[in-house]
Amino acid sequence: MIEQGAAVQTPARRFDKVCTILDENGRQPQRLIPILQAVQEEYRYLPEDVLTFVADGLGIPGARVYGVATFYSHFTLEPKGKYIVRLCDGTACHVKRSIPILEALHARLGLSSKQSTTDDMLFTVETVACLGACGLAPVVMINEEVHGQMTPAAAIELIDAIVAREKLA
Ligand code: FES
Repeated sequence: MIEQGAAVQTPARRFDKVCTILDENGRQPQRLIPILQAVQEEYRYLPEDVLTFVADGLGIPGARVYGVATFYSHFTLEPKGKYIVRLCDGTACHVKRSIPILEALHARLGLSSKQSTTDDMLFTVETVACLGACGLAPVVMINEEVHGQMTPAAAIELIDAIVAREKLA
């Protein structure tokens, strides 16, 4: 039973924003990539039912939308945290001891190589190849911010600062 006054997101509501994105792109199939980028910005990933909705909205096969969503590494079909922590493990960063930073992040957030996103959906920790800032190695990127010359302690400080900020929000 649904409690009166409870916030329920109906399916139509859930797709409201996707409809707007489709309309803003003229529902043109050739705008598929920018549409998926905008959808991913909204949801932080590409939910399967939304991909189907996009395909229907553009009048193209679902397989085509799914194909594009899985081809580009920029797109993700898995839910990710509000803060995506990308630890560079390219050669320069690896030599400057990026792995102890990864271990510290995992320990602090209760993550592992099998679980990359915290249960509260606040953080996702990933390793990536060279971020193009080798002079600052080892490098951690949190969303769009680059942090150089990281140490395990400095990385944990960044995480703790975000957690503290989120608690106040
Ligand atoms: S190897 Fe890490 S930024 Fe290049």
